[in-house]
Amino acid sequence: MQPTTPSIISPDIPTPQKSSSPLKLGILASGSGTNFEALVQAIADGKLRAEMPVLIYNKPGAAVAARAQRWGIPAILLDHRKYQSREAFDFDIAQTLSQYGVEWVIMAGWMRRITGVLLDRYPERVINIHPSLLPSFPGLHAVEQALKAGVKITGCTVHIACLEVDSGPILVQAAVPILPDDTPETLHARIQVQEHEILPRAIQIAAMGVGELRK
Ligand code: GAR
Repeated sequence: MQPTTPSIISPDIPTPQKSSSPLKLGILASGSGTNFEALVQAIADGKLRAEMPVLIYNKPGAAVAARAQRWGIPAILLDHRKYQSREAFDFDIAQTLSQYGVEWVIMAGWMRRITGVLLDRYPERVINIHPSLLPSFPGLHAVEQALKAGVKITGCTVHIACLEVDSGPILVQAAVPILPDDTPETLHARIQVQEHEILPRAIQIAAMGVGELRK
């Protein structure tokens, strides 16, 4: 395993076979959608051999929906507040993803816990991005948690999602130094630059063989 840049730690990136069909990615996002857009851009630039048949978002008015519209990607609103249980919500998510032929589910700023209903439909095919070097600082407010803890280096992680929040086999991490005058906003902005770099890379790695990560 070789570091590919000074700050990004990942397995060697496998070369996708030209003949292989593009990955079909379904995106789950709750907010601004910069990671969503970074993925669309990576696909457009030929850096990730994939298609994005659908975005599912859960907050009416989330900026990610406007981004999807600009790229001509169907954006489906499933509002979690309209469901009786997390399982019922995930059932509709899984149904929608299946209808669009999705093979891999990418939680790109998805601020909901997921259940076995989604994981059973997409075993080892749900990927999450989180703004810390997991297993440090899982859950909400990861950037604030890192600042409060006084660590000097934080970063971001892309991993295969499990039932437990922000846990599962790690695909790629990138380190980001914390500067003395950092605020949550300035630090998060630098972390996001790295997120946009590692998310497409991690998807490619996952698609080429999650099994390798367990060795
Ligand atoms: C990202 O920083 C992502 O790591 C984080 O939400 C942000 C979404 O930004 N996700 C989590 O905290 C999940 N635990 P974006 O909407 O601009 O992509």
